Amino acid sequence: MSMNTTFAFDVYGTLIDPLGIATTLRCYVGDKAPAFAQIWRDKQLEYLFRRALMRVYRDFPTCTRQALAFTDLRLQTRLATDAVDTLMAKYLQLPAYPDAAQSLARLKARGHRVYAFSNGHPDDLRSLLRHAGMDTQLDGVVSVHDVASFKPDPAVYQHFLDSTESAQSNTWLVSGNPFDVLGADAAGWNTAWVKRDAAAVFDPWNIQPTVTIADLRELADAV
Ligand code: 2OP
Repeated sequence: MSMNTTFAFDVYGTLIDPLGIATTLRCYVGDKAPAFAQIWRDKQLEYLFRRALMRVYRDFPTCTRQALAFTDLRLQTRLATDAVDTLMAKYLQLPAYPDAAQSLARLKARGHRVYAFSNGHPDDLRSLLRHAGMDTQLDGVVSVHDVASFKPDPAVYQHFLDSTESAQSNTWLVSGNPFDVLGADAAGWNTAWVKRDAAAVFDPWNIQPTVTIADLRELADAV
């Protein structure tokens, strides 16, 4: 592999665990916390996809807050305003996956460029990555906000290449989200799917990730 390889790490579901919000949810919704966290995340992604398709952009925190409101109605949990505000604030302090920081360090040690590349809002990404201690490890953070659309719109993968002066043949998308892997594949990138859960299913679209890893620390040797 040439030394000018660029790695674009997805954030939510790859470096940072969005289901980690279940710990805070437990204080407000008790045993419904795991289901709440999953529905919230699924609805958040659905809202991003729909807005990208409709070309009616609202930023990631707005979509996240609206998905939270949907989940509250669906599960009839009747969250108070201060609970909603606390949950949204905690969303800026979600936990990092334990393999993330070491993976970035290994790639940097080999001379590769490592970026965060996310649907998230730039301010939120800065808070999250600083809280996780990963901000100083990264060469930069690229957000879809600059192009007012969301993954897997091809425009956002092109935006990443343009803003990091990378070529698609030397660029890897690293993601735990199959939709993101397929989006990058369609844009001609190399892809690494992070399959932390042995039961996770990749969309059966007759397309395979370039590599599949169970732990981000395997990445440096797998590519
Ligand atoms: C991202 O960070 C939302 O996981 C998605 O781009």
